[in-house]
Amino acid sequence: MNNQSKLRWGILGAARVNERLLPAIVEASNSELVAIASRRPGAAAETLQKYAPKQQGVTVYDDLEALINDDRVQAVYLPLSNHEHAEWALRVIQSGKHLLCEKPMALTVADIEAIETTALKYNVIAMEGFMYRFHPQHARTMEIINSGIIGEVKFVRASYSFIMRPARMYRLAQDVDLGGGAMWDIGPYAINSLRMCFGSEPISALAMAKYADSGADIATSGLLDFGDGKHGHFDISFECSRRSEYEVTGTKGGLKCHTVWQLPGDVPVISWSTEDGRYWEEKLLPSNHFILEIEHFSECVLTGKAPLLSLTDAKENCRTIGAVLQSAAQGRVVKLR
Ligand SMILES: NC(=O)c1ccc[n+]([C@@H]2O[C@H](COP(=O)([O-])OP(=O)(O)OC[C@H]3O[C@@H](n4cnc5c(N)ncnc54)[C@H](OP(=O)(O)O)[C@@H]3O)[C@@H](O)[C@H]2O)c1
Repeated sequence: MNNQSKLRWGILGAARVNERLLPAIVEASNSELVAIASRRPGAAAETLQKYAPKQQGVTVYDDLEALINDDRVQAVYLPLSNHEHAEWALRVIQSGKHLLCEKPMALTVADIEAIETTALKYNVIAMEGFMYRFHPQHARTMEIINSGIIGEVKFVRASYSFIMRPARMYRLAQDVDLGGGAMWDIGPYAINSLRMCFGSEPISALAMAKYADSGADIATSGLLDFGDGKHGHFDISFECSRRSEYEVTGTKGGLKCHTVWQLPGDVPVISWSTEDGRYWEEKLLPSNHFILEIEHFSECVLTGKAPLLSLTDAKENCRTIGAVLQSAAQGRVVKLR
């Protein structure tokens, strides 16, 4: 326990996603942005100017190492490209700093194991950045599921897509082995949603994908077997209209979370129905899950509370994505356990 009221954050990389995360760190009640770094000269300063022009006291580095060596920084938000996460996560942790790493935390389970071992050794918190999990709408969907009103959960469908804009085509420039494509980009949400709704781990995966010339998947659909007739269906795509939703079917009814990727101001909607003809639609108050994620992480560091998302969770998500990619590449069912 310590008496510090605000955790001091550094941002490692001038990534596009800072559009959401940088203002969240600035606005979070228990957090303070003290540094930002990029390897591209001027990019960190430009990012700060763009997303928090009035912010004072932020040191700007054109060198990632310099931020890691900055003693003022206690926690690092890491939004580098997917294939760089593991290497930089270890460097952050070895400097004694806490780590919030964008999803996917790493591209292999072995890399996440190394991050876990190192975090234990350096006594720091490391968490995968699934911002959506901090939106209260998912606590509510889990409350409905756990109440038993829709019965035993048998099917869950998770669908995430948007049309890739030409300026974002870099996300398809690399092979899946290097973290490129839809499965490493929006796939982690789909797999995480299915695992969250079932509250268990899949035993096998079957998937099919469409690939770009680079070897990145553009669209992937698949099926996860959670045992006992419990199936998780997912479809993710960079060439379908925008969706971020999951639908749960139980033995007595079903529910739907209509918009998982909530933008500030969006009104969250959950609808659910039962066999006997009852139907509800709940509108929740808008919440900014990026701010809630940062506040949660800061609270964990400042008070010693355990993070909502464990590294075991990160490993299981990664293991499942690996099986999905293997299944799509080889055209066969891949056993997970
Ligand atoms: N939680 C969410 O809502 C969300 C949304 C989008 C993405 N993400 C995740 O966040 C991470 C970053 O995604 P992103 O799309 O924001 O990545 P991005 O813009 O491609 O940035 C990734 C890194 O690439 C470098 N970079 C950026 N623009 C560059 C350019 N024009 N030329 C050369 N290098 C450049 C930057 O490092 P330097 O600054 O050191 O050059 C940056 O940190 C990924 O892991 C992704 O999965 C999360």
